[in-house]
Amino acid sequence: AKIHRHRWDVRYEFKSPDCYKKLTITINGKSPGPTILAQQGDTVIVEVTNSLGTENLAVHWHGIRQIGSPWSDGTEGVTQCPVVPGDTFTYRFVVDRPGTYMYHAHYGMQREAGLYGSILVSLPDGEVEPFAYDYDRSIILNDWYHKSTYEQAAGLSSVNFVWVGEPQSLLIHGRGRFNCSTVTTDQSVCNVTSPECLPYFFTAVPGKVYRLRIGSLTALSALSFQIEGHNMTVVEADGHYVEPFEVSNLFIYSGETYSVLVKADQDPSRNYWMTTSIVSRNSTTPPALAILNYYPNHPRRSPPTSPPVGPAWNDVEPRVEQSRAVKAHQGYIHTPPPKPDRTIVMLNTQNRINGRIRWSVNNVSLDFPTTPYLISMRENIKGVFDPKPTPDTLLGYNNYDIYSVANNTNATAASSIYRLKFNSTVDVILQNANTMTKNNSETHPWHLHGHDFWVLGYGIGKFDPEQDPKKYNLVNPIMKNTAPLHPHGWTALRFVANNPGVWAFHCHIESHFFMGMLTAFEEGIEKVGKLPSEIMGCGRTRGHSRP
Ligand code: C2O
Ligand code: CU
Repeated sequence: AKIHRHRWDVRYEFKSPDCYKKLTITINGKSPGPTILAQQGDTVIVEVTNSLGTENLAVHWHGIRQIGSPWSDGTEGVTQCPVVPGDTFTYRFVVDRPGTYMYHAHYGMQREAGLYGSILVSLPDGEVEPFAYDYDRSIILNDWYHKSTYEQAAGLSSVNFVWVGEPQSLLIHGRGRFNCSTVTTDQSVCNVTSPECLPYFFTAVPGKVYRLRIGSLTALSALSFQIEGHNMTVVEADGHYVEPFEVSNLFIYSGETYSVLVKADQDPSRNYWMTTSIVSRNSTTPPALAILNYYPNHPRRSPPTSPPVGPAWNDVEPRVEQSRAVKAHQGYIHTPPPKPDRTIVMLNTQNRINGRIRWSVNNVSLDFPTTPYLISMRENIKGVFDPKPTPDTLLGYNNYDIYSVANNTNATAASSIYRLKFNSTVDVILQNANTMTKNNSETHPWHLHGHDFWVLGYGIGKFDPEQDPKKYNLVNPIMKNTAPLHPHGWTALRFVANNPGVWAFHCHIESHFFMGMLTAFEEGIEKVGKLPSEIMGCGRTRGHSRP
């Protein structure tokens, strides 16, 4: 196995990814940052220097399980103290599985300021995927705000709540197009001729098959991605091979990755649009456009047709159907344990707590302790988080009406999390509910650190603990690290608590996470090796884990 060493300088720079000039967090001058390429079993070492000046930093390797290296997970508040300005922190981890992964900032709402990129892990020499293609391309989809993350964070956490609103643009691999003519103040901040906002394109040779890896790291938006005149065959999800199925549009939620196969088999005398558009919210944000360029046409030549229109934003059924269609490839089935040792039903609600709007799981809206859980639990530092665990099922859950606006007067902001028996099998039933707005429920993509889970089923309505488990897919469930919870629906997940550490589990929507929509699981903390002193320094960690 090889070692890949990267040196990253992280700083703010003015960038115009959608033609509008804005302070953007860059890695070595770029956003999206450099792609990390490695082969299964390799070690990746990233020395991250925080040159943000006045802002802390932490970087998470999304989809990498960090087996034996929980302190490299990069989750501020859970696995490490933040990297302070001027410091360099070294992440070191093994990429143990092939596939498509991502990285992004995991401090405050920093991710949406531009610190993100791809991790592509190839198979060992001599092994091949269960599908054939000629070329490999990868893109990350994102949404983009013009306000600073500070302004957004302050609005979300104040008693006079200010919602972040819909994004100004969507980006396809860091490129979008804001309508500069709507800028009425300083015209110079928006420049349609900036080379930074030229649309993304990739060039296809007619007749060839392309593996297109698509990831989403949106701050808010659920997306649909489509390529004019071309169907896509889904073959990979979150690093696992999928029993192939064809789609005309791909629904993708923040934190997910997919590989699709695209055959360049259309009229080769022209180019085609690739677009991404928002679903699940009634958004005014225009779709992002990119170009599928058929060689030898000029890559900047606009296709002669109008861009394909995405699906209706409020049509939930096709989204649930596509979620259900993602199953493990028949040659790569990992059979889940037949029964859970423990079932946790997580009711997702929006509440008002101490005058602030918050998101909660079983009436607990998480506030990070100043001492990260991994450190306080491993080093037995007492009194830094609420030791009373979050309930496995909300008291009174049986009578809870998920379709009504509930007042959830018992919701609290707390630092309590879940502690799991090592090696036990845990079912998590995510149960969606109505928000504080009548007839409204949102899509929440839930992401688990340190594991892949089996996706056992999706449903609409309230989960029935007697009947619904009988319908679980225990034959060929896909394993993923992120799965959507659909409006007024439920999602059933199973995982084995076999990775010593403390692992965040959260909604991948940046503002929901910031408003407390997260929890964490501790398992096998006594099996965690000696913590590196580099992760210390905040809260009550000082002076701990010396040799
Ligand atoms: Cu990509 Cu904790 O998230
Ligand atoms: Cu959410």
